[in-house]
Amino acid sequence: MHRTVDLKVLYFGTPVVLISTRNPEGTANLAPMSSAWWLGDQCMLGMNTGSQTTRNLLRERECVLNLPSADLADAVDRLALLTGAPELTPHKIERGYRYEPDKFGTAGLTPRPADLVGAPLVAECPIQLECELVAAAPFEDGSTAHTVRVVRSHVDEQLIVPGTEHIDPLRWDPLIMKFCEFFGGGSQVRPSRLAEAWQIPQTAHAG
Ligand SMILES: Cc1cc2nc3c(=O)[nH]c(=O)nc-3n(C[C@H](O)[C@H](O)[C@H](O)COP(=O)(O)O)c2cc1C
Repeated sequence: MHRTVDLKVLYFGTPVVLISTRNPEGTANLAPMSSAWWLGDQCMLGMNTGSQTTRNLLRERECVLNLPSADLADAVDRLALLTGAPELTPHKIERGYRYEPDKFGTAGLTPRPADLVGAPLVAECPIQLECELVAAAPFEDGSTAHTVRVVRSHVDEQLIVPGTEHIDPLRWDPLIMKFCEFFGGGSQVRPSRLAEAWQIPQTAHAG
């Protein structure tokens, strides 16, 4: 039996992306995001218009999409309530966000130079996609829909089907964000600061 529900959140489950961009002064910014979908060699990203990521992406027109596996959930969670934008909106302050210029250091992640873009790769992520911005359009809820094209892909060789240029889906365990909670292999992997900030109701938490 179905019931009509005024659903408060529609985040049914998408892979987490750690998006790295370059700040105006040449330092790196890094932010978790998950409103991302793929078509051919392009990806559509929904990012808050006031985020440092959107500002950097519109200015520099390039980024790296770093895909964390489920075992990187702790590092991703450390970034959850941080922004690289020095001025916070009242909405972000209310949810417990703070300004952090050193996102890599705070997360405990390692920047590596990319080949074609100014933003760094996240060394610990098994998949790193260098991208250029193709288009950006406002989205009604205060976000920007960015279309990016993948111009170079770096993949941990353990994920590659030997002798091919394909990733083995059985070896790739993406970190999934489902209703603001972290999942890997179908199970919850750790508690999520984002879910707490959004006051997402819980039934039980992973240890
Ligand atoms: C798992 C996870 C997924 C997120 N997904 C998105 C998203 O798809 N779009 C978005 O605008 N913010 C998303 N956020 C929130 C941003 O990370 C947050 O607004 C952050 O402050 C942006 O950082 P920046 O201002 O340095 O760019 C997500 C956060 C987490 C922890």
